[in-house]
Amino acid sequence: MSLLIRRCRLLSMEPPPGFVGVRTGEAMRDLRVRDNVDVLIRSGRVEAFGDGITVPPGAQVIDARGDVLMPGFVDCHTHLCWAGDRLGEWSRRLAGENYLDILKSGGGIMSTVRAVRETPLITLTELVRQRLDVVLRQGITTIEIKSGYGLSTEAELKMLRATRDAALTWPGTVVLTALLGHAIDESAGHKQFVDRTITETLPAVHAEFPGIAIDLFCEEGAWPLADSLRLMLAARELGHPLRVHADQFTSRGMVTEAVKLGALSVDHLEQTTPVELETLAKSQSFGVGLPVTAINLGNPRKDAPFTGQSPSIKFANLRGLVDAGGRVCIATNANPGSSPSMSMPFAIALAVRFCGLSIDEAITAATVNPAILLGFKDRGIVSPGKRADLILLRHSDYRDLAYELGGDPIRAVIVGGHVARYYAGS
Ligand code: NIG
Repeated sequence: MSLLIRRCRLLSMEPPPGFVGVRTGEAMRDLRVRDNVDVLIRSGRVEAFGDGITVPPGAQVIDARGDVLMPGFVDCHTHLCWAGDRLGEWSRRLAGENYLDILKSGGGIMSTVRAVRETPLITLTELVRQRLDVVLRQGITTIEIKSGYGLSTEAELKMLRATRDAALTWPGTVVLTALLGHAIDESAGHKQFVDRTITETLPAVHAEFPGIAIDLFCEEGAWPLADSLRLMLAARELGHPLRVHADQFTSRGMVTEAVKLGALSVDHLEQTTPVELETLAKSQSFGVGLPVTAINLGNPRKDAPFTGQSPSIKFANLRGLVDAGGRVCIATNANPGSSPSMSMPFAIALAVRFCGLSIDEAITAATVNPAILLGFKDRGIVSPGKRADLILLRHSDYRDLAYELGGDPIRAVIVGGHVARYYAGS
């Protein structure tokens, strides 16, 4: 079965001459835009693109009418596997309560942990499947999904199995991450919980999911630096790539430590100091910005009079990271607590307004760079031989992707060469 997309404005994102792999600096600003291009897809791959390609017999044809065709989004940081909801907590936060205070009093992440522990595998699998449907319609064709709401050996494995099972019937690609250090289950005793995570949960995950990235949340009220380093060293010893949530609310020195340990990525970075940002930029670790989270958590404090301003809101300085030569990605961070959004266009829209990225840089940070972070060289660009994971916008100017706030810029989603979503009337 072949598919011909005619008359598109193509963002091929092919590497500039002499450039291989991750885009940094100037290379993030080169989307390789070509006008009036036909793209031929066969057997799930891009076969060719150019001017006036002949329609192969029996091919499906989409007339792009000059609209933008580009790589599908790669969302490299999500917590899409959860049960229950956090609406009660959200109402408390709207009334001025603080995310970390709620976590420290046993709510927040821990309330989702309780819900996940109570939910059977089959129900959890169905919840992930439903959310994968939503993200695909929004143009995400490759997604990373973390565990981290289990926090016991049994419940962490249940989350990973549910996500793996849900992925089996999804046409896109799911990459699993074991977020074993998401919070501390104080009911088990702090030291006992950390010891158990390192000596029991980590080896069990290693046995069933070898090579999976291990993640943790180094933060006041979550994993202290010393415990984080123990978990990271043990995971590295077993050959797992490392990812960390660092500097979301407080700067704790984790960026420097993660770089020293050769972490694959350091995510969040809202409070990262200029010195540590420079350290990250000089390293091989990716920096992942999650701008929806800052917007969502930036409500005014309840003990302060309402002024119409949010004193607590702070975004990752992705401008500084790009300028210093860093490897930059952005992601939705979709989760029930800090980021209830599955929209990459929304993350892009915020990254250009508040994290200092240009539109071209933000698109690179949402496609080709996260594809490489997740280990894929066959997507994130549109080029012969690459996987045909593509989106067709409703717009002929790609800046509309970042301009619209909360819109629906996507007309068609093509995943593995198949049309997964198409609005004929648009
Ligand atoms: O990346 N900060 C830690 N983890 C998530 C939030 C998870 C939750 O609140 O449920 C994040 O923001």
